Amino acid sequence: MAPKPRPFVCSACGAAWPKWQGRCDACGAWDTIVEERPLSQTPGKSLGAVRGRTVPLLDLATEEAPPPRSETRVEELDRVLGGGLVPSSAILVGGDPGIGKSTLLLQAAAAFSRTGLKVVYVSGEEASAQVRMRAQRLGLGKADVRLAAETNLRDILTTLETAKPDLAIIDSIQTMWLDTVDSAPGSVAQVRAAAHELTTFAKTRGTSVILVGHVTKEGQIAGPRVVEHMVDTVLYFEGERGHQFRILRAVKNRFGPADEIGVFEMTGRGLAEVRNPSALFLDGRGGPTPGSVVFAGIEGSRPVLCELQALVAPSPHSQPRRSSVGWDSGRLAMILAVLEARCGLSFAGLDVYLNVAGGLKIGEPAADLAVAAALLSAREDQALPEGTVVFGEISLSGALRPVTQMENRLKEAAKLGFRSALAPAGGRISETSGLSVSQVSDLPAFVGEQFGA
Ligand code: TYD
Ligand code: MG
Repeated sequence: MAPKPRPFVCSACGAAWPKWQGRCDACGAWDTIVEERPLSQTPGKSLGAVRGRTVPLLDLATEEAPPPRSETRVEELDRVLGGGLVPSSAILVGGDPGIGKSTLLLQAAAAFSRTGLKVVYVSGEEASAQVRMRAQRLGLGKADVRLAAETNLRDILTTLETAKPDLAIIDSIQTMWLDTVDSAPGSVAQVRAAAHELTTFAKTRGTSVILVGHVTKEGQIAGPRVVEHMVDTVLYFEGERGHQFRILRAVKNRFGPADEIGVFEMTGRGLAEVRNPSALFLDGRGGPTPGSVVFAGIEGSRPVLCELQALVAPSPHSQPRRSSVGWDSGRLAMILAVLEARCGLSFAGLDVYLNVAGGLKIGEPAADLAVAAALLSAREDQALPEGTVVFGEISLSGALRPVTQMENRLKEAAKLGFRSALAPAGGRISETSGLSVSQVSDLPAFVGEQFGA
């Protein structure tokens, strides 16, 4: 028997289901499953694909060298792209509405046009006059970028076919629609079909495309997740609304390292590059405070220092609160358990709050020791010595494990005026960093040394 068709799709993760249900079992999101009609009944009837041709693998490599990457000299952007824009590549830039995607891409369009690329910026959300006003406000009035305000993909492809740009920016993929797809713009079917047409266009016509995608939790608008596997590079533009800085993070990159970040600061005249993010993240920090610890982290290829803050207070609730912002709450629970089991330090009856200052998100286990230090410092109401950075991974046994790029972390700390570091034992550290480094082999020893417990 033929398998049943699965016309229901989760707009958050793209999982397909045979019938409607309130919750997607694949990603756990509620109210994201929508009905999707099959694409086109006639295979290959898409809008501009070149079919039925193969090329020998070797010829591709020997015939001609691939065209070089284009660098904007906006270092924060080039780094995240893996060293510049690759010709014919398809890039997705996702982010919350209002986070600054259009601003970023308009500035990027101008930067690419300055390097001699022919750039077309297609806005499906704003009229050309509005985009022009925005460009003027950002001081990009003279940039040689072509604008189009259009949402019908057939028209857009025709425009691109004639203009033959090196780079096309589509803002946003959720506003685009194909007349061959029988559902509303923004639906999973439309977003997927439009992304497919545009990535196919990129591969066959030598135009790079950047798709902008809004991430929303509501089911109506398809999250860019369904597009992620179609493109070469996925970048997320993140930041807290209340904070001035924004982070462009590569979560997938076929042409460069993932996990690379670019840091920008929001100003009245648009986004400005932040060449030294550590200084920005540590800005406004006072003297030694209980609960505050500086973590020497690595984001992508470069060291970034940031402050972890913990607050520990007697809980009025029968079940004390555990709250974590910018750090995985499961990992926080693990560190609390290790502190209790291996060091005999209980947090029972205490509310625990952990916060990464400035709205940064940390994913590295190398921050374990800094988290533990912040928790202990808050619990004991005792600050770490001034000018100290902390890093190291904690294992369930309570042992401290060496982490990657210890030297780079130390060098960055020294550059910013820190004088000492608490680090795990093992792992080579040369004297060059200029910091006094105290290497500790396990968590109980660390607790004893720093807090006399
Ligand atoms: P916008 O780029 O429109 O966000 P998105 O395309 O992600 O929805 O930016 C949102 C608002 O923030 C807009 O009113 C412009 C403003 N903004 C600045 O004033 N300066 C900046 O540096 C940025 C990034 C945005
Ligand atoms: Mg926008």
